[in-house]
Amino acid sequence: MHGHAAAIAFFLTPAGRALLDETAALPADPLIRLERLRRHHPPPLAAAAVQMWELRQRAQRKFQNAATMLFTPEGLEQSTGDRIAAYRAARFPDSMPVLDACCGIGGDSRALASRGPVVAVEIDLAAALCAQANLLEAPFSCAVLCADLTTLDLRAWSSRGIRAAFFDPSRRQSTPHGARRRVVRDVEHYTPPLSFLHALRAHFPALSVKVSPAVPDSVLQAFPDARVEFLSDQGECKEAVLWFGPLAGALPPVPTATVLRPNAPPQQLAAEPVPVSCGPPGAYLYEPDPAVIRAGAHRVLAAQLHGRLLAPEIAYFTTDCWTPTPFGTAYRILDCLPYTPKEAQAWLRRHGARLTAVKKRGVPHPPEAVQRRLRNAGDTGVILVLCPYRDRTFALFCQPAEASTNPAAPTR
Ligand SMILES: C[S@@+](CC[C@H](N)C(=O)[O-])C[C@H]1O[C@@H](n2cnc3c(N)ncnc32)[C@H](O)[C@@H]1O
Repeated sequence: MHGHAAAIAFFLTPAGRALLDETAALPADPLIRLERLRRHHPPPLAAAAVQMWELRQRAQRKFQNAATMLFTPEGLEQSTGDRIAAYRAARFPDSMPVLDACCGIGGDSRALASRGPVVAVEIDLAAALCAQANLLEAPFSCAVLCADLTTLDLRAWSSRGIRAAFFDPSRRQSTPHGARRRVVRDVEHYTPPLSFLHALRAHFPALSVKVSPAVPDSVLQAFPDARVEFLSDQGECKEAVLWFGPLAGALPPVPTATVLRPNAPPQQLAAEPVPVSCGPPGAYLYEPDPAVIRAGAHRVLAAQLHGRLLAPEIAYFTTDCWTPTPFGTAYRILDCLPYTPKEAQAWLRRHGARLTAVKKRGVPHPPEAVQRRLRNAGDTGVILVLCPYRDRTFALFCQPAEASTNPAAPTR
């Protein structure tokens, strides 16, 4: 067994669990941990235990039970966190058995197994062992198979009543053993390639497939019978999901943005075609959630909030009143003027202001370079937004709308 997998296999035993408990109880400094553990344990196991402790710390932003789960570094990086996994799993009917095709360390399998039986397949032995450990407490039956999915007889499962699958191929390119693997953009360089979904579809009519949200629209449009959903978690667009067969039914035929946040129900906005006019900056500027922009649903949001776009192809829009929304962030516009570094600097000086952030859309100025160039001139924090308006680059000096006292009464 390869070193990494051997260590994970050891952590599945009572002695391995005791070593991990001992590691967690030691002082935080990794060198001290390692030095103390090496007094009583073989150096490779001591090093693996310290690494697992570090992975568990890092995993806390994704998994509530990170402190008791097992990870490989790459498995953690590629895993789906609790919130998104739970949301997606809930779209599969309760108690329906699901094949988790490419389960990694089991981020998705865990959520799927909280609603029904799961068979999970993973090619990497260390990751498969982690998945096995991470599924020990699952309320439904789980089997983890370490195998190459592409060589398996998929028909055998479907004939045994498994008619649903979740496919999350690796976005890393295979490289010689041990080399750090590069993230790939071409979906046919995923492992397995995205086109393997055709083989899955033949046997699992209820199919969900996760891909990068950065895939070109043409890739998604190649599946006209699929529903497309973009998922964001805490303001970051994490993935695009293709839903097939009975799982597609709940979504409209246009792309949908689903916005997830802690302690709040998921919110959905479909990119229905709606007319939205362009017009001058009003009292508020809205920056739609990245999943809303990726789905092309920012026009719907603008229409719902009685907004107008500043430029036809730019996702920022402006309104005269503030309406809080889960689908974007609102800023109160303090001032707007054609952008030159000199004018922007003069504005900061006049208002005793400092830049807390620079944002831009549709103009070339890199925000970091703009922020470096403009000097702070006081304590009032402002956000500078650069965007095209009437064929020029405009500077909008803004503050978060939440900071203003009355939503209905802009101060400008
Ligand atoms: C994106 S990760 C899956 C992450 C998983 N959904 C989670 O939440 O933890 C993709 C996984 O596919 C595995 N994989 C790649 N090719 C495979 C194959 N031919 N058969 C089975 N698994 C494969 C990789 O080892 C990797 O762990």
